[in-house]
This record gives sequence, C-alpha cells and structure tokens, in this order.
Amino acid sequence: MLKIGIVGVRGFSIVGAVKAMPEEACITAMCDLSEEALERAKKEIGLNDSQCYRIYEDMLKNADIDAVVISTPMHCHVPQAIEALQAGKHVMCEVTAAVTMDELWWLIEEVERNGKIYMFAENYCYMPESQLIRAMTKAGLFGEIYYGEGEYTHDCRELTCYEGHRTWRHYWQMGTRGAFYPTHSLGPVMQCFDDDRIVEISCFSPGNHNDCGLRGDDLTQTLCRLESGKLVKVRVDTISPRPHCMTYYSIQGTKGCYEAARGLGDVAKVAVATEDNPKGFDTWVPLSNFNHLLPERYKEKSEIAEKAGHGGGDYYIVADFIEACKTGVQPELNVYKAAEWTAVGLLSSLSVTNGGRAMEIPDFRKNMPYSEKKIKL
Ligand SMILES: NC(=O)c1ccc[n+]([C@@H]2O[C@H](COP(=O)([O-])OP(=O)(O)OC[C@H]3O[C@@H](n4cnc5c(N)ncnc54)[C@H](O)[C@@H]3O)[C@@H](O)[C@H]2O)c1
Repeated sequence: MLKIGIVGVRGFSIVGAVKAMPEEACITAMCDLSEEALERAKKEIGLNDSQCYRIYEDMLKNADIDAVVISTPMHCHVPQAIEALQAGKHVMCEVTAAVTMDELWWLIEEVERNGKIYMFAENYCYMPESQLIRAMTKAGLFGEIYYGEGEYTHDCRELTCYEGHRTWRHYWQMGTRGAFYPTHSLGPVMQCFDDDRIVEISCFSPGNHNDCGLRGDDLTQTLCRLESGKLVKVRVDTISPRPHCMTYYSIQGTKGCYEAARGLGDVAKVAVATEDNPKGFDTWVPLSNFNHLLPERYKEKSEIAEKAGHGGGDYYIVADFIEACKTGVQPELNVYKAAEWTAVGLLSSLSVTNGGRAMEIPDFRKNMPYSEKKIKL
C-alpha cells in the first residue's frame, strides 16, 4: 500500500483515482499554505487535523508517507522534489518540471543519486485520444511518422490575478518569454516518435499586441527538430482572445494523417491508406472508427477510470506511478523526458528573444560530464 502526501490543491486531481484503487494506495497527508485547501482535504479525503500541514518540510518529516504528489506553482517543483527525494520519498510532479536549466540538472542528479521514483505528471499523454493515436502509430496505420503538431490555446489572462493580487502565473507563466508551457502539446506527439529526442528548437512570436500588462508573447510557435531530422511544431497561446483548445494535435506519416478536433462540432479524424483502400489517405473518417485499437486497459476499466477524470487519464497516470513505486523501475515519463520537454520551453525564451535563433537541447539521457551541462549558443 503506497501512502501518498499531496502538496498543492491541484493534487485533488488524483483523489478519484486513488479512491478507485483502495488496495494499492491511499492519501495520508495534505499540505497547502491555504487553510481552505486543508479544510477541503478533510472533507474530500477524510484526513484529520494531524494529517494536514501548512509547512511542506513538516509533512516530509512527520507524516506517514512513502510518496509525494507535487502540485504547487512551477517554481516550487524542483526544490520540493529534491527535498522529497532526499527525505526518501518517491515523487510525482506536475508540469512543467523546472523553471531554469540548472534546476533540471539538479533534479536529474538527485534522481540518479537517490534511486527513488520520479514521475512527470504529463497527464495529456494519458488521455484516451493520445493513447489511441499512439496505438495506431505503433500498429503502423500512419506508416512512418515524420511530422507532428501540438497546440495549447487557453486564454489564461484571468488566472494572473486573484482578489486584486498578481498570482505566480503573472510571472512564471505569462510573464515569461517563449513557449513556457509546452509539455501538454509535446508529450502526446513525442510519444508517437518512440525514442527519438528533440535536439534543436527555434521559437518565433508575432510580438505582444494584447494590452494586458504581461511580459509574455501573445503566442509562440516553436519548431523542434528531432535527432532523426523529423519535425514537431508547438503553439503555446495563453493570451490571445479566442475559444480554448488545449488538445489540438496532428501527425503526418507516409500512409496517412490525424487531426484532433478544434471546435464548433469538429471531430477528431484520420485519413489512412489500408490494404482494402490504398487511397484512403485522401478522405477523412472519424477517429472513433478505430476505438477498438485503444489499449486494453482503457477498455477494461473504463467505468472506474472515467470517474477519476480526463476520460481515464487521471486513473492510469496514478496507476503507473504506483506500479513504478512498487517495482522500483522508473516510469516511462521519467526525469529525462521531463527535462527534455521542459527544456524546450526554457530554451525557447532565449530563441524567441534572439530572432528565432536555433538552440541545442542537451541530451539529458546521456550521462553527461559536467563540462557538457551547459546552454550552447
Ligand atoms: N496537468 C494539468 O493539466 C495542469 C492543470 C493546471 C495546473 N497544472 C500545474 O499544476 C500546478 C499548480 O497549478 P494551480 O493552477 O493549481 O495553481 P494554484 O495557484 O491555483 O494553486 C497552487 C496551490 O499551491 C499552494 N502552495 C503554493 N506554494 C506552496 C508551498 N510552498 N507549500 C504548500 N503549498 C503551496 C497554494 O496555496 C495553492 O493552493 C502548476 O505547476 C501548474 O502548471 C497542471
């Protein structure tokens, strides 16, 4: 039984999943600076006063926990993850992983030294549609994939201010130049490219035209070149006034393509050549025609899983974290993927402020010497 402590209110997103696996895990502590969040933990999770903490270090020291789910603002992630690992706890951490490149190396070094589990909570990878596209890719339905797109369009301007005060998002998200929040767009696309990695990025922006007092770009387009030479394009847009669409993706392969829905009655669709219909790449058909290819576990447990949120995604991400803690084997969404996808955002800031200059993404998976752990211009 994995005993979990949560820090940050967004951690409530795992409650449904944990409740659905009562033999595997339970939530035994909650930490948040806000009293309101702790009151909610007592009601929704059934914790008592002694299981609720205002100070994170107190929770690490005194609570009966094996693992921590970190759901605080982005700039808290690495310091809190390192503290947890050093206290002998496994970690599942919200996106993005870090706010500086140095933090990424601190984190990797700690995970390598420590041997505890670190899982990157990139939940969009676990959404049923992302899983279905990945399964179709693996089954070869698109042929060889050579191009992908991910877009996160979510007008978040209101989240930069709360009761007259600027929130952390005013600074660490919309106050930051470049594609500061790229992992929801990258994750589901990158998992269709197997072990290929991002080696170089260039980020472009049309500037800052919306008069909202935020330093960030109205939107950014980041081109990522993979080791194989293939391309992934990422749009991060949290300022433009437009309807939300946080899960737009497309992929292009030698046998066909996929495009997610973008709104107004649109549906996810694919066009693929098959033996029966070699010209099938000419015509869109609904993606749902291929639902039978969803991974088995998404079909089997769908009712329980769906209750947990995000169409089952919240359930399986927690299930995989529990499994990793149980077996001691680092999960697929490990610290290296966390670093690579987060670095796209961090280095995009240098790129966009230097006319789209190409920035090399370090090979975090390689055991680099100290001299290589640097930002190359
Ligand atoms: N995966 C997703 O779909 C998704 C969605 C939203 C947010 N996020 C991520 O989740 C994280 C939190 O975002 P949010 O929207 O919930 O932010 P938020 O500002 O609404 O909530 C942050 C919470 O953390 C608490 N907190 C801050 N510093 C703390 C500390 N030192 N110790 C204890 N508690 C502390 C605050 O009191 C607050 O309750 C961010 O990293 C964000 O990027 C991910």
